[in-house]
Amino acid sequence: MNRAARRVVSLTVGRWTFAIGLLLVLLAAWPLGAQECLACHSDATMTDANGHSLFVDGQKFGSSIHGGLKCNDCHAGIKGYPHPDKMAPVACKNCHADEAEALKTSVHADGREHPCTSCHGDAHAIYPKTDPRSAVYPLNVPKTCGQCHGVNGMAGKHGLPSVYPNYMDSIHGFALSQEGLLVAANCQSCHGSHHILSHNDPQSSTYKMNVPATCGACHAKIETDFEAGAHGHAIAKGNGKAPVCTDCHTAHTIVQPTESKFRMQSTPICGNCHKDKFSTYRDTFHSQLGFLGGYVETARCWDCHRAHDVRPTSDPDSPVNPAHLIATCGQCHAGANASFVKYDPHANAHDRKRNPGLYYVRLFMNLLLVSVLTFFLLHTILWIIRSRLRQLKNRAAKGENHD
Ligand code: HEC
Ligand code: HEC
Ligand code: HEC
Ligand code: HEC
Ligand code: HEC
Ligand code: HEC
Ligand code: HEC
Ligand code: HEC
Ligand code: HEC
Ligand code: HEC
Ligand code: HEC
Repeated sequence: MNRAARRVVSLTVGRWTFAIGLLLVLLAAWPLGAQECLACHSDATMTDANGHSLFVDGQKFGSSIHGGLKCNDCHAGIKGYPHPDKMAPVACKNCHADEAEALKTSVHADGREHPCTSCHGDAHAIYPKTDPRSAVYPLNVPKTCGQCHGVNGMAGKHGLPSVYPNYMDSIHGFALSQEGLLVAANCQSCHGSHHILSHNDPQSSTYKMNVPATCGACHAKIETDFEAGAHGHAIAKGNGKAPVCTDCHTAHTIVQPTESKFRMQSTPICGNCHKDKFSTYRDTFHSQLGFLGGYVETARCWDCHRAHDVRPTSDPDSPVNPAHLIATCGQCHAGANASFVKYDPHANAHDRKRNPGLYYVRLFMNLLLVSVLTFFLLHTILWIIRSRLRQLKNRAAKGENHD
């Protein structure tokens, strides 16, 4: 090799040495990327001294929402290996301050019981909420909350009822899990996600006075009807004795109102509050057919009063206002006329002023009953006395014969 050639080689080697040296310096200065950490942590058998797995699935992590982050964006303080003796726990709140703040003031505030991962799942496989792999994708939310709010879930230890199985059997749970209906209500739709509060808290979406708006977010037409009626007016005035959606439908065991299970149960639900009207209704043919005969098509409270837009009789828009009775009864009684609707669906046999005919019939029937019972009672007593006397007489006669 001549001198010129040797110079070229040494220059080239020198440049390469410089370039490689610079790269090494830069690499050492840069925070370690996922690949560097995964060189060790992609070993599926890797565990710590307690046998806790230290394996991180690089592929899953890469496809997750945080795939673009470096490992130590979360694991702050780890610069390489060996790791520091004390490692700070991962602080999601550094990048998600709003969610962390909302959680801190919710029922799930206790960070040890409720780390972010208790709802978002594997810390290295977090996906956007619109991704079907996400633990908070609408179809997956009930199961995520249900880990703790199901049978033997940890919420039971705090005295809370098991909600998950009831919800899954409800119309919303069925629509979500069986029909994959994304717009059906999941836990989050009614409770929210991070700022969940007890239903006793006036700020809660499940606080009684806020329930119509919570359900109304999806059932908008029904909310409007409800607000137009007597119950809605009462609630708007702060009268907690009036019903909201969940008083009639429940929160977690909602069924289709056309189901016989609902039609058979709801009359007593109206009756829980309207005790007097319930008791008069129970005496009528409509009720007897339903309760004794199990007949579903008979008239229930809401077939005459409507379910949501209920109004006082005096309101011209009430379906039981005299102006609308023929149409209201006519839904089921074809050919109902003015004389037919004179029939009183709340006839009260104890009310002489309102239903004199019925009152006297009841009085007469009661008198009849009492006199018949008295007659038979007397008859029986006399009969016993007579048979006892006859027995004594017979015994005396037998004794005489013996002697
Ligand atoms: C040379 C192999 C190696 C590399 C590279 C490595 N680790 Fe580790 N890592 C270990 C071993 C071994 C342990 C278990 C014992 C320990 O802490 O030394 C561990 C433990 C951990 C733990 C668990 C600590 C705990 O809670 O028990 C975390 C988190 C961690 N590493 C993160 C990282 C991150 C982030 C990187 C990249 C910046 C990284 N590791 C790079 C070998 C490595
Ligand atoms: C979005 C934040 C985040 C990122 C990014 C992240 N981790 Fe983690 N990692 C966590 C959380 C949270 C835990 C659970 C322990 C904790 O809370 O400190 C954890 C735990 C670990 C553990 C302990 C074993 C375990 O699974 O409990 C290891 C090892 C680890 N991470 C390595 C890595 C490596 C390697 C990377 C990069 C490929 C990485 N982490 C990226 C949040 C993250
Ligand atoms: C009690 C369960 C629960 C806990 C605990 C929880 N989340 Fe969530 N998170 C959810 C649900 C459910 C959603 C989906 C909300 C939706 O569909 O609008 C969500 C959504 C998110 C989103 C997306 C927000 C958006 O509107 O796009 C982020 C970011 C998030 N959570 C971060 C966190 C962080 C950080 C923590 C811990 C401080 C945390 N979460 C704790 C249940 C939870
Ligand atoms: C270094 C910052 C950083 C840290 C720390 C971090 N994240 Fe994220 N996170 C992001 C970025 C960036 C995105 C994607 C952009 C976005 O949608 O906000 C994201 C997205 C998310 C989403 C998806 C939001 C959606 O669109 O549905 C969830 C859920 C989430 N992070 C939860 C967590 C949890 C839980 C932790 C702690 C284990 C955590 N993050 C830690 C930066 C971070
Ligand atoms: C890691 C377990 C866990 C998960 C996951 C969880 N919860 Fe909870 N939840 C609890 C515990 C425990 C309490 C009781 C907190 C207390 O009283 O200190 C609670 C309380 C509640 C309450 C308040 C009940 C009351 O009236 O006092 C509601 C509502 C609730 N959770 C709904 C949800 C919803 C909705 C989800 C899913 C988005 C969810 N939870 C996820 C454990 C969990
Ligand atoms: C359609 C709306 C709705 C859905 C869906 C829903 N909830 Fe509720 N939840 C409520 C209302 C309203 C209350 C308030 C109490 C009541 O009316 O029974 C409540 C109460 C609770 C309570 C407190 C129970 C108590 O008696 O203190 C917990 C816990 C709870 N819900 C968890 C869940 C979980 C977990 C899911 C999903 C599996 C869920 N909820 C789905 C509306 C809903
Ligand atoms: C996130 C939207 C959403 C919220 C919030 C919601 N629902 Fe629903 N609800 C639906 C959808 C969608 C259906 C239809 C399911 C089907 O037909 O399969 C439904 C069905 C029903 C049904 C059965 C009606 C029928 O014709 O089948 C009743 C009753 C009901 N919801 C009551 C409530 C009550 C009460 C609340 C509040 C405590 C509520 N819903 C909150 C979306 C919602
Ligand atoms: C006073 C009791 C009561 C209240 C309060 C109530 N409902 Fe109803 N709801 C009923 C009855 C009864 C039916 C059945 C009506 C029928 O079969 O004609 C019904 C029917 C429904 C249906 C089925 C569709 C329909 O129009 O028949 C939905 C959905 C519904 N209610 C949602 C709600 C929501 C949302 C609220 C609160 C804004 C609410 N309900 C308040 C008693 C009530
Ligand atoms: C939780 C208790 C409760 C339930 C359940 C309930 N109501 Fe009411 N209802 C009330 C209260 C309280 C008022 C009075 C509102 C006011 O002050 O004007 C009222 C008013 C009415 C009115 C107007 C007449 C009047 O006296 O002002 C009718 C009609 C009515 N309810 C029918 C029904 C029907 C039909 C059902 C079942 C579908 C039902 N209610 C369920 C409490 C209830
Ligand atoms: C067959 C139709 C029909 C059925 C079924 C029916 N009602 Fe009535 N209801 C009426 C009529 C008509 C009136 C008006 C006459 C009256 O005041 O008795 C009325 C009056 C009422 C009133 C008084 C309204 C006011 O302005 O003072 C209430 C409250 C009431 N009903 C509740 C109920 C309840 C609760 C049920 C079920 C247990 C029920 N009704 C079943 C037809 C019916
Ligand atoms: C939801 C349907 C329905 C509504 C609304 C209804 N009924 Fe009925 N009613 C029935 C059924 C079913 C029977 C039993 C079968 C039959 O006789 O037609 C019955 C029976 C009767 C009977 C006794 C039997 C007969 O036919 O003479 C009278 C009286 C009666 N209804 C009056 C009324 C009056 C008045 C109204 C309006 C205030 C009314 N009904 C509204 C379904 C209804």
